[in-house]
Amino acid sequence: LDNGLGLTPPMGWNNYNHFPGKLNEKLIGQTANAMVSTGLAALGYEYINLDDCWAELNRDSQGNLVPNATIFPSGMKALAGYIHSKGLKIGIYGDAGTLTCARTMPGSLGYEEQDANTFASWGIDYLKYDNCHNNGTSPQERYTKMSKALLATGRPIFFSLCEWGQAYPATWAGSVGNSWRTTGDIKDNWGSMISKADQNDAWASYAGPGGWNDPDMLEVGNGNMSTEDYRCHFSLWSLAKAPLILGCDIRSMDNDTFELVSNKEVIAVNQDELGIQGKKVKKTGDLEVWSGPLSGNRVAVVLMNRGLSTANVTAEWSDIGLNSSVIFDARDLWEHSTTTSVQNQLDATLDSHACKMYVLTPH
Ligand code: DGJ
Repeated sequence: LDNGLGLTPPMGWNNYNHFPGKLNEKLIGQTANAMVSTGLAALGYEYINLDDCWAELNRDSQGNLVPNATIFPSGMKALAGYIHSKGLKIGIYGDAGTLTCARTMPGSLGYEEQDANTFASWGIDYLKYDNCHNNGTSPQERYTKMSKALLATGRPIFFSLCEWGQAYPATWAGSVGNSWRTTGDIKDNWGSMISKADQNDAWASYAGPGGWNDPDMLEVGNGNMSTEDYRCHFSLWSLAKAPLILGCDIRSMDNDTFELVSNKEVIAVNQDELGIQGKKVKKTGDLEVWSGPLSGNRVAVVLMNRGLSTANVTAEWSDIGLNSSVIFDARDLWEHSTTTSVQNQLDATLDSHACKMYVLTPH
């Protein structure tokens, strides 16, 4: 969407993966504080996003959405002001139907302009727009209506479509939103994570500055996968130019989680100015190579072992679209080490669910 936003994939946090339906202003305030004090804000994580269940079930007598007074007693304008005072941005959640998925608050169907104006008046910077209770009407129409309403407010608001990929939003949402879901909800386990990566991969050619494929938010740090699983998760999302929306409790991250999500070199792949989504380029059983171009004639590569036993994974230059005569310096983004003058191929011995991530620079 040409609204000046999302020129690189959005980075931030959302409560849903760790605290579904459990919002309150203390949690949001403390999360904003942690975003700054941990250093994650300085690395580019800027959006603090509320998911479902922030509003009262009923609109007020003028038809306005009303923040739930028990959990947001200070109101949304005050909360937005606090988040802005930390140098961060605030995201909110709505639904392109009559009721949200959790059924605790109204959707915006038929109230698009009114709700967009409400969000803008509060100082909202990002809208995640869900798809429950939609009366079976065309998503393209419903999402376009809200997109236009947001633009009409004059406030730049990142528009994140949450249609789950069933209506193939990649094929039409480029002019409607800044990102669109390509999958159903991610769960905190390897099978779910890897299947989202695969589904999202099918739409790679539609992503670019201003509009990104969204394989759903990160589960890194939520505790049900191993550190190596999460390393693959974060590597694949970064390579695929997916939104990097953290979904763990960043107030109490352990060191492994912080090391993963704060890796500057991996984040730099995600935020590369070319904005080309990396893709799966080779699959030999459980052994995979994912790769994509970066600015400056560089190339990002992920080698991954999806299987259960240790194996050697190889990416030949021809697998990743390179002329076999070119010599590269290979930066290992997780080991933070560089091998100079690499010729013909990259290879690594990888344990089960392990991956390596490299940036190749012409020597
Ligand atoms: C479905 C969405 O896909 C999730 O990300 C989350 O927003 C829930 N709805 C909230 O009810």
